[in-house]
Amino acid sequence: MSEIENTPALDEETARSLLARAREARLNAYAPYSNFQVGAALLAKDGRIFPGVNVENVSYGLCNCAERVAVGRAVAEGAREFIAIAVVGPEDNVSCSPCGACRQVLHEFSPEMWLVTPDGEGWTADRVHDLLPGAFVPARLAGHGRTV
Ligand code: THU
Repeated sequence: MSEIENTPALDEETARSLLARAREARLNAYAPYSNFQVGAALLAKDGRIFPGVNVENVSYGLCNCAERVAVGRAVAEGAREFIAIAVVGPEDNVSCSPCGACRQVLHEFSPEMWLVTPDGEGWTADRVHDLLPGAFVPARLAGHGRTV
């Protein structure tokens, strides 16, 4: 097991309650163009939960995914370390796997975080780094002015 996988598995209660929070958030999704409402709930290491929804725009390229809205909200409130994010699409029991851009954004802060998504009556959890093999990482910027 690599060091990055040294964090605990996600327990049933946390997974189910995060999915419930994501479904609750989804009520506020703004998706008049795709009619594909997405809700997310991002659990920070300090216990706070940050909801996110997709926010679309008539200029389609400006649409924001629920996952990135949740991350933006969390970072703006000082959270940078995360345990898990739950994501639900329009159908309660159907998996909604994040797009490539969201995988990279989630990977930036906590590559080991769990991505939880519905799976029928149950759920599945994958580590973000397993969903983005070969992620672009800060080491790639070595010698090119990385300052943080
Ligand atoms: N969407 C998300 O918010 N998250 C995902 O994981 C998949 C896609 C949004 C983007 C767009 O508003 C709509 O779903 C259809 O692609």
